[in-house]
Amino acid sequence: MNPPDVLAWRDGRIAALDQTALPHQVRVLDIGTVDELVEAIAALAIRGAPVLGAAGALGVALAVRQASRCGWDGPRLDAEIKRIADARPTAVNLRREVTAVAGHIPQGRAAVEAAAQAVLEFAAEASVALSHRGAGYLRDACGSGPLRVHTHCNTGALACLGWGSALGVIRALHEAGALDSVIVDETRPLLQGARLTCWELGQLGISHRLICDGAGPFLISQGLVDAVVVGADRVAANGDVANKIGTYSLALAAHRAGIPFLVAAPESTIDESTPDGAAIPIELRAEEEITVPAAPAGTRALNYAFDITPAELVTAVVTEKRLTRNGLGLTRPGHARS
Ligand code: MRU
Repeated sequence: MNPPDVLAWRDGRIAALDQTALPHQVRVLDIGTVDELVEAIAALAIRGAPVLGAAGALGVALAVRQASRCGWDGPRLDAEIKRIADARPTAVNLRREVTAVAGHIPQGRAAVEAAAQAVLEFAAEASVALSHRGAGYLRDACGSGPLRVHTHCNTGALACLGWGSALGVIRALHEAGALDSVIVDETRPLLQGARLTCWELGQLGISHRLICDGAGPFLISQGLVDAVVVGADRVAANGDVANKIGTYSLALAAHRAGIPFLVAAPESTIDESTPDGAAIPIELRAEEEITVPAAPAGTRALNYAFDITPAELVTAVVTEKRLTRNGLGLTRPGHARS
């Protein structure tokens, strides 16, 4: 899927694939105001760290247009831009790209819109580069394949544009003939794995099996997985990784089994200004996302949307520019296939 299909700037408005409707409906949102954008981001109609960054970039362009239409003064424009940056707290890409594009406001509307478009183009290019680097790493670490790879949440074009991050690595393995199949977990409570990753893998013709979230560590312990590859919402300066809730348990299982746990993310997800995982804000979402429809009325829930995987459990972080080994030291490389 090409970037314009996921997210695009059209006649001063944002066209975004509504990710809450997938896979059953392919619906495009036509977003013309900051309110509509913030609502779409909060509802996860637009989601995934790099796509949040790209949407934030376009959001600044949208806010500038709305400011001239509605006669907003400077402080009002700043406040509206801040609302976009704050729409979700964990993925650093959102705040980063909003801040970067807002820096072009003194140069005028055309400069802002060009800067926002450049964010989309760069995200797509970066995704392809990091995908090939990550695939090369896994082939070195596990042997040339065919590999059985476990992934979590959704990290394809829907989340990143271009090829995606973790799903891009999987696509690069597939194109190199080095992929056996993919294990996809559901990713409760909003089912990004079941709804979005299975949809994207199906479109790419990549063999996959869906499992429930709790099954992941068991499959890994049974030698049914050669490597785990996930994306990230923020990588702290010390290498700790914030990603969708459920990532940490996969990292523990991969560590125990001695298989690679690879984090694939663009450089824009690495946040040198956040020292470690403890300093990353973790989004707490509505309880109803967990309780409805199964729990008895009145059941309270604790809906942390992300978790922190400590750097020592991460075998490597791959970006479009580099591959950083985090010093896990694989105990039994390739063990799962032996
Ligand atoms: O809540 P979401 O769907 O925005 O969470 C997405 C994830 O956690 C992804 O794994 C992450 O953004 C990496 S996508 C490259």
